[in-house]
Amino acid sequence: MRSNKLSQSAAFIAIKFFGLTRKAEFRDLFDGHTVRFYEKVVQSLPFPLKYYHHWLRFRPVRSFYIAAEELFLPGDLMHILARKWYMEQMVDELVDRGYGQILVLGAGFDHLGLRYAGRGIPSLELDTPRMAQLKRQLLEQHYPGKPQPDILPLTLPDHSLSDLLQQHMPNPGKKTIIIAEGFFDYLEKKVVTELLSTLRRHFASPVLVSTHFALNELSSFHRFIFRSSLRIVGEKPEFGVSMKTFRALLQNSGFRIQKEYGPDAISENLLSSVNTDLPMLRGFYLFSAR
Ligand SMILES: C[S@@+](CC[C@H](N)C(=O)[O-])C[C@H]1O[C@@H](n2cnc3c(N)ncnc32)[C@H](O)[C@@H]1O
Repeated sequence: MRSNKLSQSAAFIAIKFFGLTRKAEFRDLFDGHTVRFYEKVVQSLPFPLKYYHHWLRFRPVRSFYIAAEELFLPGDLMHILARKWYMEQMVDELVDRGYGQILVLGAGFDHLGLRYAGRGIPSLELDTPRMAQLKRQLLEQHYPGKPQPDILPLTLPDHSLSDLLQQHMPNPGKKTIIIAEGFFDYLEKKVVTELLSTLRRHFASPVLVSTHFALNELSSFHRFIFRSSLRIVGEKPEFGVSMKTFRALLQNSGFRIQKEYGPDAISENLLSSVNTDLPMLRGFYLFSAR
């Protein structure tokens, strides 16, 4: 991941969420702030990505886009809806249980830092320098005067997370939510292992809320499409271990999974309630671990 570049994967998460929430049934799963946030993100993306804001408002364009997506990577679109929905639910629940500060790793264009800063919870977002700069501009432009998350640049493994946490998260004793939505996928296994130990050492009571792509559960064709689509935009999935390996790695680093949702549970819970024919991406998991 080049630290001076816009993350295309982060941009397309916002674009896909924006396109999906043009449909009332999907939009109603989220509150108005969340839906409007991604509208503003897509509107503010650099040229030519910002044109999705215009074109995706037309149903035939959306239908074409959906058909093309489903042909190459079935379930990719629904996984976007699911990750935004489950992450919000899991973090809301933890905040209700008294977790008092939030760290968002690889925050990209997501709305969680702003959502919880708005509820008076100190939130720190980290991403590469270019992404941190774009996010700051976005929030200053669209949410002036509103409580904002702190946003700092950090590229792993080039920078030290431990030093940054010591300087900028001075209350390690506070119950802390660490959000890693679509982040670990870009790091080598040894970097993920070191990162988990750093988090465990720094915080007294952390809970990790994360996604995981177990690439071994995709067919070889879909795995090829997944990897190639990221490589085309200069990004590389480095992690991709099986969910079983990731569970063991979490456990060795002192994190035990509390909640886990795999593709079948997501289809059963979420997709059945929204009446859609679109499938869920195989190999996609969400979990919380303490
Ligand atoms: C797939 S995007 C996810 C963005 C956001 N969390 C979401 O789910 O909408 C991955 C994010 O991780 C960041 N990222 C990737 N590799 C990174 C690294 N080595 N160090 C820091 N950030 C990285 C990217 O810049 C990007 O914003």
